[in-house]
Amino acid sequence: MYISTITALAVLAASASAKQCINTTVPVNLIARQAVFNLAVPQTNLEVTDFILNMTQQGRNFTDVVLTGYNTTTGTYNISTQFCMPSNDNSTSPTVQVLTHGIGFDKTYWDLSFNNYNYSYVNIATDQYKYCTLSFDRLGIGNSSHGEPLNEIQSFIEIAATVQLTQMLRNGTFPGVNHTFSKVVHVGHSFGSAQTYALANMYPNITDGIVLTGFSMNGSFVSSFAAGGNFQQANQNQPLRFSNITGLQAQNVLSMYAEPLVSYISPIDLSALPAPRALPNGYLITSDIEGNKLQFFKPHYYDPAILELAERTKQPVTEGELLTLASLPMMNNFAGPVMLIAGGQNADADLPYCGSNCLATGGVAESIPAMVKMNFPNVATSNFSAVVQPNSGHGINLHYNATGAYDVINTFLNSRGLMSS
Ligand SMILES: *[C@@H]1O[C@H](CO)[C@@H](O)[C@H](O)[C@H]1NC(C)=O
Ligand SMILES: *[C@@H]1O[C@H](CO)[C@@H](O)[C@H](O)[C@H]1NC(C)=O
Ligand SMILES: *[C@@H]1O[C@H](CO)[C@@H](O)[C@H](O)[C@H]1NC(C)=O
Ligand SMILES: *[C@@H]1O[C@H](CO)[C@@H](O)[C@H](O)[C@H]1NC(C)=O
Ligand SMILES: *[C@@H]1O[C@H](CO)[C@@H](O)[C@H](O)[C@H]1NC(C)=O
Ligand SMILES: *[C@@H]1O[C@H](CO)[C@@H](O)[C@H](O)[C@H]1NC(C)=O
Ligand SMILES: *[C@@H]1O[C@H](CO)[C@@H](O)[C@H](O)[C@H]1NC(C)=O
Ligand SMILES: *[C@@H]1O[C@H](CO)[C@@H](O)[C@H](O)[C@H]1NC(C)=O
Ligand SMILES: *[C@@H]1O[C@H](CO)[C@@H](O)[C@H](O)[C@H]1NC(C)=O
Ligand SMILES: *[C@@H]1O[C@H](CO)[C@@H](O)[C@H](O)[C@H]1NC(C)=O
Ligand SMILES: *[C@@H]1O[C@H](CO)[C@@H](O)[C@H](O)[C@H]1NC(C)=O
Ligand SMILES: *[C@@H]1O[C@H](CO)[C@@H](O)[C@H](O)[C@H]1NC(C)=O
Repeated sequence: MYISTITALAVLAASASAKQCINTTVPVNLIARQAVFNLAVPQTNLEVTDFILNMTQQGRNFTDVVLTGYNTTTGTYNISTQFCMPSNDNSTSPTVQVLTHGIGFDKTYWDLSFNNYNYSYVNIATDQYKYCTLSFDRLGIGNSSHGEPLNEIQSFIEIAATVQLTQMLRNGTFPGVNHTFSKVVHVGHSFGSAQTYALANMYPNITDGIVLTGFSMNGSFVSSFAAGGNFQQANQNQPLRFSNITGLQAQNVLSMYAEPLVSYISPIDLSALPAPRALPNGYLITSDIEGNKLQFFKPHYYDPAILELAERTKQPVTEGELLTLASLPMMNNFAGPVMLIAGGQNADADLPYCGSNCLATGGVAESIPAMVKMNFPNVATSNFSAVVQPNSGHGINLHYNATGAYDVINTFLNSRGLMSS
């Protein structure tokens, strides 16, 4: 058992026929070399469109156009985490999976509450495969610290946070977890996979294996993703979550000007909503459920109610993240086990990393994810696996057959000797 306090255990045991988890906010001191962009942050929704038009213009790299140099960002930030372990665990040397979510989601991507958690990656990884997991809101997103959206919240400071969390797991100082992990693997989704790819290159010794879901090294299709989201300012799109209007204020305005509406929506207690985040302009979000569907879902292969959940709980992306998400080395130093898994084999599948068809390679390779082998010159063929998950869009975890993908991932890790022991 790795959870340190007796009280924590007692509380958890009472509720737990399944995994045991602790939620902790972890302060981290970060230092990262970050890009300095010379660009006015858009102040209106229409200016957000100008930014996306800039980003998606063919024949140039807009990141490079607005890059003026690099600087060192330092600071103390809070990272909101959830650590989970199997309900029933005998292992003395458990492996922990560090899970990094992508754009549009937060850490709950890995532990979806939908349909009594039967889409939860964490449930399968812990209770079925006996791994521990650490999921967290990436810096800037969800309940983690927020920051300036252009020159502060970028890819490399987020990677620095993942490095700190990983080192705490390895050296036994992760709050509330009384264990020194000697085996750590990193699993990402989409932008979280891009960060995992970069982390493994920068610190090849920090990870024992990586799984990149919803990812490839083909950047040709990211424009469709960026354009199709029809991004807006998050604080204008869902003001009760992302601006500074409290539910109570909204309720008061309604009762002043539109009394009947108060009764109409009365099943919703606006005054009970969590405090809004007051995000600055430059935190962007898909405008509507159609944009969300376009980016993450394969038609007919998901429950329409899970798309509604994804829309209600959607998370923003910063301008700085969009400008740095493709800043990846072509040659990766990592030498351990690598798995890629991306959705779909027909039309409508993984949009951003396969252009909706992971098998359309013009015959040069088995699949677009399989081509990533060439970016890992130090990885033995026997340690590399690329899987095309059938009947799935980019948001693999939200499709009917999500657990099929979870089995493939955990079976791969086990087969490389990375299981808890
Ligand atoms: C941590 O675990 C060790 C070994 O199992 C035990 O001796 C120690 O008391 C634990 N510390 C806490 C704070 O629970
Ligand atoms: C921990 O956080 C998750 C959301 O990430 C939430 O569903 C759960 O209720 C929290 N657990 C506790 C004990 O607060
Ligand atoms: C778009 O790019 C041009 C320069 O190419 C710049 O002047 C303008 O400010 C940019 N607008 C946005 C919103 O990014
Ligand atoms: C675009 O430019 C940035 C900054 O120079 C660079 O890091 C990145 O690798 C480039 N992206 C591509 C796809 O060439
Ligand atoms: C980096 O930061 C220092 C100190 O804030 C500042 O003087 C310098 O101009 C910055 N460099 C760039 C390229 O913005
Ligand atoms: C982190 O969270 C703690 C407790 O909620 C708070 O006191 C502290 O100011 C936060 N630190 C940062 C850097 O946001
Ligand atoms: C723990 O060990 C017992 C006895 O060896 C075994 O019956 C049980 O299945 C084990 N539990 C797990 C979760 O491996
Ligand atoms: C969850 O359960 C529903 C209803 O039984 C089923 O349709 C769906 O495929 C399941 N999803 C997963 C990921 O297991
Ligand atoms: C453990 O790792 C964390 C994160 O890198 C670091 O801050 C801390 O000093 C380390 N503690 C020990 C005892 O090595
Ligand atoms: C990584 O580990 C290997 C083997 O232990 C060691 O030779 C190498 O110096 C380490 N590299 C780094 C960057 O720490
Ligand atoms: C609330 O947010 C708006 C923009 O979303 C901003 O103009 C205003 O100054 C903020 N007010 C407070 C009190 O923070
Ligand atoms: C579910 O996913 C698994 C793993 O990729 C695959 O083998 C299986 O064929 C899939 N099932 C369906 C019905 O698509």
